[in-house]
Amino acid sequence: MSEFSYFALFILILIWSTLPFGGLKAPEPTRCSSPPTSPANIPKGSCWPKLDVVFMKTHKTASSTLLNILLRFGQKYNLKFAFPSGYNDFNYPSFFKRSLVHNYQPGDCFNIICNHMRFSYSEVHSLVTPNATFITVLRDPAHLFESSFHYFGMVVPFTWRLTGPDKLAKFLQDPDHYYDPKGFNAHYLRNLLFFDLGYDSGLDPRSPQVEAHILEVEQRFHLVMLQEYFDESLVLLKELLCWELEDIVYFKLNARRASTVPRLTGELYRRATAWNQLDALLYRHFNASFWHKVEAFGRERMAREVASLRRENERMERICIDGEHAVDAKDIEKPSLQPWQAMGAKTILGYNLKKHISHQYSQLCRKMVTPEIQYMTELGVNLWVTKLWWYIRKFLQI
Ligand SMILES: *[C@@H]1O[C@H](CO)[C@@H](O)[C@H](O)[C@H]1NC(C)=O
Ligand SMILES: *[C@@H]1O[C@H](CO)[C@@H](O)[C@H](O)[C@H]1NC(C)=O
Repeated sequence: MSEFSYFALFILILIWSTLPFGGLKAPEPTRCSSPPTSPANIPKGSCWPKLDVVFMKTHKTASSTLLNILLRFGQKYNLKFAFPSGYNDFNYPSFFKRSLVHNYQPGDCFNIICNHMRFSYSEVHSLVTPNATFITVLRDPAHLFESSFHYFGMVVPFTWRLTGPDKLAKFLQDPDHYYDPKGFNAHYLRNLLFFDLGYDSGLDPRSPQVEAHILEVEQRFHLVMLQEYFDESLVLLKELLCWELEDIVYFKLNARRASTVPRLTGELYRRATAWNQLDALLYRHFNASFWHKVEAFGRERMAREVASLRRENERMERICIDGEHAVDAKDIEKPSLQPWQAMGAKTILGYNLKKHISHQYSQLCRKMVTPEIQYMTELGVNLWVTKLWWYIRKFLQI
């Protein structure tokens, strides 16, 4: 792409990001007044499945896969989602406000909130029952940074100055030289987890606020999952929410082609960790507490449950997926199964369904492979801004 098209793109993004979609109403002081009604006759022996879930969807952490799980669960029990309006996030990177929820009326109460947002506890909490379960996903910040750099780099103008074949390495050699904390979209390239969770991602790592924020996350979230141990995380989630195995089966969504994922090792890994020091502290804390939870759950029991989840995923793969694995965007036959791509390279994989799937599984298979945008559209969300952007990109071939 030429300098000019970068510039044109930048202007487009700028205009787009300043349009006041959905943000016009002032926040209302009222709380969620009555809990949404639970469906009757829920099957389960010793506990009742929990239906009220807030998923703080972080970026580049396998969160699209979890989103798919939550959308399916919500459909299964006919739950009420708090969706954004116009596009598929809550006016990110601005803070979440309840007035951003599609068709929000004061006093409204929802079962599930699961789209990208910059977290605001009080605003989110006002929309769900006091007993709602809060969950989120973290990932090793060095790898998260790498992923974010490749996925979002193009929409962070100060990276356009980077030259050479390995922009990431160049950046990490002297991040302070390139990074502009006030730059457009700068938040994507430093301590993105801290930012998404609603904190100042430019804090001095030695500030006592850092520890205070980390403890606050621990207080507010009932489960902090880890991308690296996604299956173990899902087993803990299933236990916490009293769900069934069928509720957590999944196919990996929004993953990159393996050959396009550079492994950050040695010096670069060290630099990326140091550059994202707040996230590193956060991750270290929750990596430790995660393993305490696994310990409490029982190591052997965990191994058994993970094995049965993987068996079930593989069984579903054999039932649903043509060729039994993910394919490049260009090989996905149906537009309805085409995932959203980062700008530049089409590296995000998707799926083709088998031609003949028995009636019993056809719905489930289709849901499991449906990307976020299409799934939300199916659930009645009007994503006109996202779609418009999709067409503009298609037209400009970016
Ligand atoms: C919240 O949970 C407590 C104990 O688990 C229960 O007694 C209470 O009824 C629940 N409240 C709501 C609004 O569901
Ligand atoms: C997370 O904790 C595990 C178990 O203690 C440890 O082996 C691993 O190195 C930790 N990961 C990171 C990135 O700190």
